[in-house]
Amino acid sequence: MKGWIKSIRKSKGLKFLTITDGRKDHQLTLRDSEYELIGELKVGASFISEDVESVTPRGLPEFVVSKMTIVGSSDDEFPIQPKTHTPDYLRSIPEHRGRAKSFQSVWKLRHYLSQELHKFFMSKDFIQYWTPIITSDDCEGAGDTFKVKSDWLDEQLTVSGQLHGEVGMMSLGQIYTFGPCFRAEKSETKKHLSEFWMLEPEMAFYSLKDTIDFSEEMLKSTLKGILKYSEDIDTTHITSILDKDWIRIKYEDVCKDFGLKYGSDISSDVEKSLIKKYKLPVFITHWKKELKPFYMKKDEEVAECYDLIFPEVGELIGGSVREEDYDTLKIEMEKCGLDMDKMDWYLKTRKWGTVPHSGFGLGFDRLVTFVCKLQKIHDSIPFPTSY
Ligand code: 4AD
Ligand code: MG
Repeated sequence: MKGWIKSIRKSKGLKFLTITDGRKDHQLTLRDSEYELIGELKVGASFISEDVESVTPRGLPEFVVSKMTIVGSSDDEFPIQPKTHTPDYLRSIPEHRGRAKSFQSVWKLRHYLSQELHKFFMSKDFIQYWTPIITSDDCEGAGDTFKVKSDWLDEQLTVSGQLHGEVGMMSLGQIYTFGPCFRAEKSETKKHLSEFWMLEPEMAFYSLKDTIDFSEEMLKSTLKGILKYSEDIDTTHITSILDKDWIRIKYEDVCKDFGLKYGSDISSDVEKSLIKKYKLPVFITHWKKELKPFYMKKDEEVAECYDLIFPEVGELIGGSVREEDYDTLKIEMEKCGLDMDKMDWYLKTRKWGTVPHSGFGLGFDRLVTFVCKLQKIHDSIPFPTSY
């Protein structure tokens, strides 16, 4: 066995070590005077052992050690001791917190979730497409961007890969991007990061309904796929949403139901009430057009769009049909005061062979937060950056 010691328990004539090999915990049994030790047994130390696989009198798996070589020593100051540590304490030591079982399992599940998503897109014959991280456009038009400056470059960090993803869609039909996004807004909530990861598919010829159906299928398939890796967590919050159709409700009806002024944004309190009412994820569709960005396809009143509200994390996905008509899009972009010289490349995607198309953005860290039932999005990523 090779790994790290997590705890040491002594009983008459015996020592029991709980160790991790980085993937799983195991028990090592050391019988006094029947093993050779090189170095000192300490919580946190790394080791290589010679051992044989066996079972304890209670029938549990164990490894009986004949030789134990400590590779990297440890001492009593090691910050992850075998006891319950508070989340605040663990957050204060990001460089060590992954050695606590709770965070070790979050990092694993984050990996498996990402792999399940890629697997789903592979099964649907989507092509992964790479979009720039340094860019000159502010896709969401919110102005909350981080600047990137050098003596020859003056740009910003991307807030979303969507606009370039649409370029990919024009060449490949169905694509997705998966990359980091950056938002400088001063949001001090448990679901906002300044640097987060977004998965963004973009599909030619997809209607709003196609896109909502696709979002639901993607999430159900991914969540089902993760169950086999979730031995460390309770999964009832996942299984309870898998076998039912998720709720689809128009923005207008949410306003009526919750006594909101038509045209006001939907607060996180209303999101919570929706989840409480339906006990399922909720797609809010057809928002009043003034509430949504320039690229969404709109009629006189509403945008052909949706937000997917998820338990605990609120908005998990934002998506829409894109305006594919050159002249209409040009007017919308001008109305928003976009720099038409800088954004001309995007408008040009509607010039030759424009196509009805749709897409969405999934906040990957929020998905991890939901799956692992985390208190804060800051616990879903090893090194969070936030306001
Ligand atoms: O709703 P948003 O801002 O949509 C877009 O950026 C579109 N351009 C996406 C697209 O259509 N391709 O962001 C999409 C999702 C949100 O629903 C949320 O889950 C997540 O990204 N998100 C954040 N996650 C963590 N921290 C933040 N500051 C986030 N901002 C958005
Ligand atoms: Mg949104």
